[in-house]
Formats: sequence, C-alpha cells, structure tokens
Amino acid sequence: MAEQQEQVPRVIDVMVLGAGRMGSVHIRAMREISQRYLEPVFNISLRLSAVERDPQKWAALPDDVAVFADLEQALQEAPRPEIAMLAFNDDQHAEALHTLFDRHPDIQAVFSEKPLTETLAEAQGLLDDLSRRYLSMNTVINFSPVLNDDAPPGLPPDAQLIGFEAVWGKDRTADTRPSIGVPSESVHAISLITDMFGQRNLALKHGHAVVGDLTANARDVIYDMQAVFEGESDLPVRFDTSYVLDSQHRRVTAYYESAGYVYAAEYSFDVKGADGRVTDLCHVYQIDEDEGLISPVGGVAPQPIAMGNGQNQLTNDRVTAYNLLSLIDYLGIADKPTEAMISKRLISLDAVMAIQGEIEQINVGNALLGLTRRDTSPDHLRPPLYKALAETTGAEIKARLAGLRSDSQHVAAVPKPGGFKPR
Ligand SMILES: NC(=O)c1ccc[n+]([C@@H]2O[C@H](COP(=O)([O-])OP(=O)(O)OC[C@H]3O[C@@H](n4cnc5c(N)ncnc54)[C@H](O)[C@@H]3O)[C@@H](O)[C@H]2O)c1
Repeated sequence: MAEQQEQVPRVIDVMVLGAGRMGSVHIRAMREISQRYLEPVFNISLRLSAVERDPQKWAALPDDVAVFADLEQALQEAPRPEIAMLAFNDDQHAEALHTLFDRHPDIQAVFSEKPLTETLAEAQGLLDDLSRRYLSMNTVINFSPVLNDDAPPGLPPDAQLIGFEAVWGKDRTADTRPSIGVPSESVHAISLITDMFGQRNLALKHGHAVVGDLTANARDVIYDMQAVFEGESDLPVRFDTSYVLDSQHRRVTAYYESAGYVYAAEYSFDVKGADGRVTDLCHVYQIDEDEGLISPVGGVAPQPIAMGNGQNQLTNDRVTAYNLLSLIDYLGIADKPTEAMISKRLISLDAVMAIQGEIEQINVGNALLGLTRRDTSPDHLRPPLYKALAETTGAEIKARLAGLRSDSQHVAAVPKPGGFKPR
C-alpha cells in the first residue's frame, strides 16, 4: 500500500487532447484517481482541461473539465499543463506533440494513446523532445487485470513456452474514423507478446497482406494480414490481424510444454458475457497433441471493480490501471504492490520506439510480405485464422499445433532466456 508522502497541496494541470472514445475514458479515470487516491493519500489533485473540436462531445464531459475547441485556444487560455494526455486520432499525434513542445517547452510529461505517431520517422523526429520528458504510452491490453504478474492458475510450474498464436481484429468496413490500417491494430498483440511475455524485437519472417481502401478515410492501407513473427528468443508468433473479420476477435494464446503435454494459456480480451458486461478472460487448457483434445485446467476471470489502491477502491479496468501506473511512476510514488506491474507494463520511450519499428514491418515495401490489392467490402468478411480453442475441432487443433511446431522446429532444443516465468 502506498505511504502518505506529500502533504503540501499540489495541483497538477493535465490537458487531454481529444475527448472521443478514449479521451473521455481517460478523463473519467484521471478524475477517479485524483479524487480517490492522489488527493486523500498525497494531497495532489489533477486539474483537467480537454481539447475537443466536436461540440457534440462536450456535453458528456464533467463540469469541472474546461473544454477548448482547438489546441491553439487551449494553449492560450487553459492553465499550462504539466502533463499532456494525447488522445487525438492517430493522424494528429505528431503535429500536436510538435505544437505542444514548441509553444510550451516546460511541459513535463506525455501520456499518449498508441500508436505514438503514424510512422517511425515521425517518432524519430520527436525523439529529442521526448527524451527530455516523461513518456508513457497506453497500449491498453498490457494493463488488463487478466494479466496478473504470475502465470495463470493451471499451468505447471515447469512449463516451457513454445510459441504463440494471436488474432486481433474486427469488421471496420463501416467505421469512418481515419486509420492507418492493421499496423495500428497490431500494436496490442505485439506489445503484449513483447512486453508481458518478454519476446523482444519481434521480426516479421513471412506472411501475406491485403492492401487497398478500407473506407473513404483509410485509403490504400494494409487492412488484413496473416504472418509469422519471431522474437529474440526465437519462438514463433503466428499472427492474424484484420479489419475484415466477421466479428471482433482479440486473443493471444501462449503455448507451453510440460511432461508430454502441450498447455495453452488463451487470453481473450473484450469478451461480451451473457449479462452484456465486457471482460478479459484467460483459459488454461491441457492439450493431448496426438488427438487434438483439450481439457480445461485453470484460468483467470478478474473482478470489474476494486483495484484496491489507496483509501478508496478504483475501477479495475485497463485505462484506470494505465493512468494509475503512469502517474505513480511519473510522480515517483513508492508503492510496492505496483512496482512489478510498472516495470513490466509501462511503455517508455525505448519501448515505444521498438514497437513503432515492429509495426512498421507491416508495410507494402516489405519483401517478406506477399501482397494482394483489393478494396474492402462488407460482404467479404472472414472468420479468424485462430478460433478460440473451445470452438475448434480436434483435427483443427492438431493442424494448428503442427503449424506451430514446424515454425519453431529449429529452436526446440535451445534454452529460452527471460520471458514469462510460470510459478
Ligand atoms: N477506441 C479504441 O478502442 C482505441 C483503443 C486503443 C487506442 N486508441 C487510440 O486512441 C486515439 C483516439 O482514438 P479514439 O478511438 O478515441 O478516436 P475518436 O475519434 O473517438 O476520438 C478522437 C477525438 O479527438 C478529436 N480531435 C482529433 N483531432 C483534433 C484536433 N486537432 N483538435 C481538436 N480535436 C481533435 C476528435 O474530434 C475526436 O473526438 C487514437 O490514437 C487511437 O489509435 C483507441
């Protein structure tokens, strides 16, 4: 539990750029953290302002959040922010950061939605400015309560990782928000496997992608890709990411071996339950590889509330966790229970640059990626390549494991440094 460290009242100005889907949730989370944790425990309060050009979004914001229609007006009229929270659409990120740093050089910290910028070159152009400030990027999924620090219950202590399958996508053919295509979508799975499972520097080995117009606001982008990546520890990551899936699928499955069995820890994100509530879940299965038969042996189903920091409990969701950990880290608060979470989950400048480089491999100039040119059609959606294991036949599971084996055969005998250590 955090100890009371700071008694002198302190107000921190936070400017939230964009009050759309993510920005409005950040505002909710920051207010909650301020009121239930920072104020009662440390006498620190966050004073929020928002920059939002769409007046329709203003009414939903709390009265104590000052709203400005553009960054220029905010920089002139709002209290000078110590922290900028960047939740504009991707195409506005680089320009907004340059403007902020030019006009307000003493800004101390940037909390940013992913991706930091649309291109690696844009991120490199900001390196100098960013390296002099605190940076934390929200990759969202890394902050899921389903990713506790230990291996999920059901996994044998000596289980050895053998590889991953990931599927991340949905139907975005009717979504009019600007998009750079699946490089943006792929950040979640890539960052999860890189950071939480320690598979650094994922390199694209081979794959196939479809390029064309996703919507009128996302032309000539890669919107569909099936590929194999490999990290420094040589384990294969078989990855399906797409904006033309039949429905939303967000899953990362880590495969292990122990005592002649394969085990799968299948993490599913944003799963809609029968009660309509959306949660993240982890199922652990033991798999008989010869028959392709799965037996459930454990898993995790987190509670929706009660993160349990400070005097009051906080919503146990990903955006609250991201903001809480970033604020604790930025403010240098000693908080033992969150130390391990911080070191693993927070994405600072080096990790941001690594992720930008990883997703930039998904580009039309990459000779390792076969390309088809075709525009999307809502009539041509497809199922994911890797369905949830409980919905998969024995024959399909056998074929999937055979594919994983063939991708990993040359590294089977090599000890795996680092990574996710089962209890
Ligand atoms: N929606 C998600 O689930 C999700 C998940 C992860 C990351 N993200 C990231 O979060 C960021 C925001 O996405 P979103 O889904 O909230 O989009 P959104 O369109 O819902 O919100 C963005 C808001 O920013 C405003 N805006 C953009 N540029 C502006 C400018 N120059 N001046 C004033 N207002 C401006 C828009 O009016 C809009 O309300 C993106 O970088 C996206 O990749 C979104």
